[in-house]
Amino acid sequence: MTQDELKQAVAKAAVDYIRPKLESDSIIGVGTGSTANFFIDYLAGVKAHFGGAVASSEATAARLEGHGIPVYDLNEVDGLIVYVDGADESDSNLCLIKGGGAALTREKIVAACAGEFVCIADGSKWVDVLGGFPLPVEVIPMARAHVSRELAKLGGSPEYRAGVKTDNGNDILDVHGLSIADPVLLENQINQIVGVVTNGLFAQRSADVLLLGTPAGVETKYKA
Ligand code: 5RP
Repeated sequence: MTQDELKQAVAKAAVDYIRPKLESDSIIGVGTGSTANFFIDYLAGVKAHFGGAVASSEATAARLEGHGIPVYDLNEVDGLIVYVDGADESDSNLCLIKGGGAALTREKIVAACAGEFVCIADGSKWVDVLGGFPLPVEVIPMARAHVSRELAKLGGSPEYRAGVKTDNGNDILDVHGLSIADPVLLENQINQIVGVVTNGLFAQRSADVLLLGTPAGVETKYKA
């Protein structure tokens, strides 16, 4: 199976997973990226069974609206029954690296408001130790050099993602060379650096369940 076929399989599995939980007024949080896009396309098939969605990016909002799924501002809703999103890496505790699509801050906000976080990923994203994928950090533009120096003190090699602005108008630094033994600690340390908006470690609020696409089928994984 190709990587896209594995992503499609987990996207479909996510719709099957959430379908019994949906009520007519349920609002769903929806992530960003190619796996999330497949999920949105399958979600359109059950759009009569829930109230609408909150999007983690402008791109996701546009795709949802293209399918006729109502998109709400997060401030308009009381809560989200579930958040479904992809990841760049997951460890066995379902701590994640996210932000390959530069949507990490809105993704983290939407995930924080959800009763359940369902991560969907192809098998290449499953790792023993986080950090092989460069850790994205969203920074206020004027603080980029300062934050880079502080990230280097933590052992990383930050690289400016040139030509990219987040939906919030900020910059992204991709931090190479980290082997992340304690994801919660590093998430907190990086978020303490002045000028950081947030970083792509989803460890304090990890996923609750991971639907992992493998050639043998979709595996359902819970925290170790
Ligand atoms: C976007 C993300 C994505 O979930 C992550 O990059 C995975 O993307 P894809 O599903 O395209 O592999 O965090 O900011």
